[in-house]
Amino acid sequence: MTAAPERHDTGSRRVPAPVARVAAHETAEVTFVVNGTETTVEVPPRAHLGDVLRERLGLTGTHLGCEHGVCGMCTVLLDGEAARACLLFAVQCEGAEIVTVEGLGSPDDQHPLQQAFSAHHALQCGFCTPGMLMSSYDLLANEPETAEEDLPEAMSGVLCRCTGYRGILAAVSDVAGTYPDGVPEPRGCASRMLVGRSAAGRPGDAPEDTTAAAPQLSEVRLPSGPPSAVVDVTSQLTSPVDRVWAVLNDFDLLARCLPGAQLVESYDEDRHRGRATVALGPVKLSFEGLAQVVERDPDTHRLRFHGQGKDTGGSATSADVVLAATPTADGGTELTAHADVHLSGRVAQFGRALAGDVSRRLFEQFAAGVDEAAETGSVSEVSLARRVRLAAGAARDAAVGALRRAAGRIRHRAWSGKT
Ligand code: FES
Ligand code: FES
Repeated sequence: MTAAPERHDTGSRRVPAPVARVAAHETAEVTFVVNGTETTVEVPPRAHLGDVLRERLGLTGTHLGCEHGVCGMCTVLLDGEAARACLLFAVQCEGAEIVTVEGLGSPDDQHPLQQAFSAHHALQCGFCTPGMLMSSYDLLANEPETAEEDLPEAMSGVLCRCTGYRGILAAVSDVAGTYPDGVPEPRGCASRMLVGRSAAGRPGDAPEDTTAAAPQLSEVRLPSGPPSAVVDVTSQLTSPVDRVWAVLNDFDLLARCLPGAQLVESYDEDRHRGRATVALGPVKLSFEGLAQVVERDPDTHRLRFHGQGKDTGGSATSADVVLAATPTADGGTELTAHADVHLSGRVAQFGRALAGDVSRRLFEQFAAGVDEAAETGSVSEVSLARRVRLAAGAARDAAVGALRRAAGRIRHRAWSGKT
């Protein structure tokens, strides 16, 4: 990613521009002050501020609705003015002061706006309430002279789907009348522990480096629900079965057969830490995680392992994988792979069909790597690079195919009058 050359204007405010260049699949460190606490987090460049506040710092008071700047649910204060957190990349907020609804006031010490919303029954489900509170704070702090008849338009940047606006406008009007020279400062901003890393390392700040990389796992725990995709791939290899088994039985060599995978550390014979990069169309995901062999049978040439990984953007994947090698009549080997794949987070949006398609093509490239390793005892960098390209291309084709199928379904629904 190339940093914007100037301060970014979100439509209502300006923020400092990042200066570093970061590739789309890498992470960048960003430091800002959130509710009075200086915090450093390491984030993918495409992560928006709303996700980082919620997922990385635990500040779930900032709600997300449309995630493209329409509904106003995600409104926070950025350097004292309202901004939509879903329209800001977190990396654009270097050096900024951010206040979320948690910083406005606490249950024990509510801000006058929070008290007024309660008194005027200005919420029903409460989903819009954080956005309404931060937006009305911005209005009363920066334009306290706003006339009562102008409040409906001034507050129209946040949508409420259930309460109706009378109570909300009455609450804002009440506070405007009580504080004609400007609403009191936020009450909940103080140095406190956030999940993110503190650059300053002050007492009371966050613990050291809890977000600098994807969390490391010490054991694999597979989800109990049904898998996101089930993959069954059978490949015919030219190598004899004992040589294929020698590859399956050597986890270091085995990892090298999978395009984009890299073994980082082996804890013991059966537990290994590694990373893998997967390209899904334009999206590159870098997973770090653990693989654990749970069954190894040299008689039936069967290997079963569980793998689990997370990326820094909150995606997680895990799989129960069974590999089995069977000799064929011509002296070669039939290699079967069965995998129950579980996806969660951002990666889950790609759907079962695409996840299954991509996993299947990865396994096909993996089988070609096993055959080469069985034949030569290693995997050459050239063929590895070629298979990484093939896997990326196949994943791109799968993504395009899935999008086309989805577009076809939408066209069909529009044509048939279903929306
Ligand atoms: S979630 Fe940001 S404007 Fe809707
Ligand atoms: S109170 Fe439910 S959306 Fe506003």
